[in-house]
Amino acid sequence: SEVYRAGVSGTKPAVPVGFDALERAARTALSAEAFAYLAGGAGSEATMAANRAAFARWGIWPRVLRDVGRRELSIELLGRRRATPFVLSPIGVAELAHAEADVAVGRAAAELDVPFVLSNQASQPMEEVAAAMGDRARWFQLYWSASDELNASFLRRAEASGCEAVVVTLDTHLLGWRTRDLDLAFLPFTRGQGIAQYTSDPVFVDLVRERVARGAGGGARPRVTPTLLASALKIARSGSGTRLVEGGLRDALRSPLPRAAVETFLDVFSDPTLTWESLAKLREWTMLPVLLKGIVHPDDASRALDHGVDGIVVSNHGGRQVDGSVATLDALPGVVERVAGRVPVVLDSGVRGGADAFRALALGATAVGIGRPYAYGLAVAGSDGVREVVRNHLAELDVTMALAGHRSIAQIGRDSLRPA
Ligand code: FNR
Repeated sequence: SEVYRAGVSGTKPAVPVGFDALERAARTALSAEAFAYLAGGAGSEATMAANRAAFARWGIWPRVLRDVGRRELSIELLGRRRATPFVLSPIGVAELAHAEADVAVGRAAAELDVPFVLSNQASQPMEEVAAAMGDRARWFQLYWSASDELNASFLRRAEASGCEAVVVTLDTHLLGWRTRDLDLAFLPFTRGQGIAQYTSDPVFVDLVRERVARGAGGGARPRVTPTLLASALKIARSGSGTRLVEGGLRDALRSPLPRAAVETFLDVFSDPTLTWESLAKLREWTMLPVLLKGIVHPDDASRALDHGVDGIVVSNHGGRQVDGSVATLDALPGVVERVAGRVPVVLDSGVRGGADAFRALALGATAVGIGRPYAYGLAVAGSDGVREVVRNHLAELDVTMALAGHRSIAQIGRDSLRPA
């Protein structure tokens, strides 16, 4: 009702309310490269289309006269009561959308009390985002690196930054075949974008130092600090270095640092040889609850449970990895059946509003992840844009619940839907 009242009093929204208009506004606000990276999917983008089509195959089946005067949108997730059934899925390289990047998202998430999953490919170190979020819920998303020391370091930092859980993304041991980016020859990481979580890490900085020493042909360990590294990358990116540099930074610019950092990142980013047995290491690195993201097969859900995970994220990375993959909403019931309530199941990929969230909750999701919509909100209006997009999801879910005859998330179930 707050959203409606604002509208009726003539306050124009900061971002378009509908997804298609929001996407168009983001396209206008962004460079061709940035928009392609955010909006694009793998190959023919059939998975993206499938994600959307799956929602359209379920009709919401409203009931009447059930006293829906007061609704309750809270849920129980990982042992805590949460104000809403949403989480903000991790989005890497948020600097492509807005200069304030992850910190802006963190502020909006904190205001609405929606858990924010901090990306391993973030544009700002997790410590900075955590500082902007106060005591509000955040989780850390890990891309399992080929360097165990680096994994352990990331997880130590996540604990120290007050992250409540770790989300290990398993669908990106290689980058998907992203046609839009390939056409533009655009890979942000090679420009030093989206690697702030790495360049701010002491273990990573050591790896870069060793690489530079090797390149210099001697055993000398050159002076490399996170600050120097970050500045060198920033200057290398801006291409306007000479005016800005002084002292140590001049050395940084002349040095092979930016290149060494990017090469080190490309070396350690992922490990395609991982197996289920590798999971045991996670328990040596952290005691935080572990969720596995990128599970779409019920047998993998069973194995995840056998390995004692604390949650599952049914996701196909918003259609950015396997082209022609199954839609997550189609995969959800099979996973939910195997999990049988033992751990929470979060669904993302293709959620574009509250009515979509309703369908996912009805098919057994514990919570629902939002990806591109909030990234577009960020692109169009920064932190305010993110807040409005998430608020609109909440408001639409609330209205949909009321109109379909439900007072609480727990009341939404299979009988709230029928095949369209
Ligand atoms: C992502 N996603 C993602 N996932 C992850 O685990 N780590 C990451 O760093 C990123 N980065 C990222 C960047 C961009 C631009 C997009 C669009 C997506 C996947 C993300 O967490 C989520 O699974 C999808 O975005 C959900 O699909 P929708 O809502 O975008 O359709």
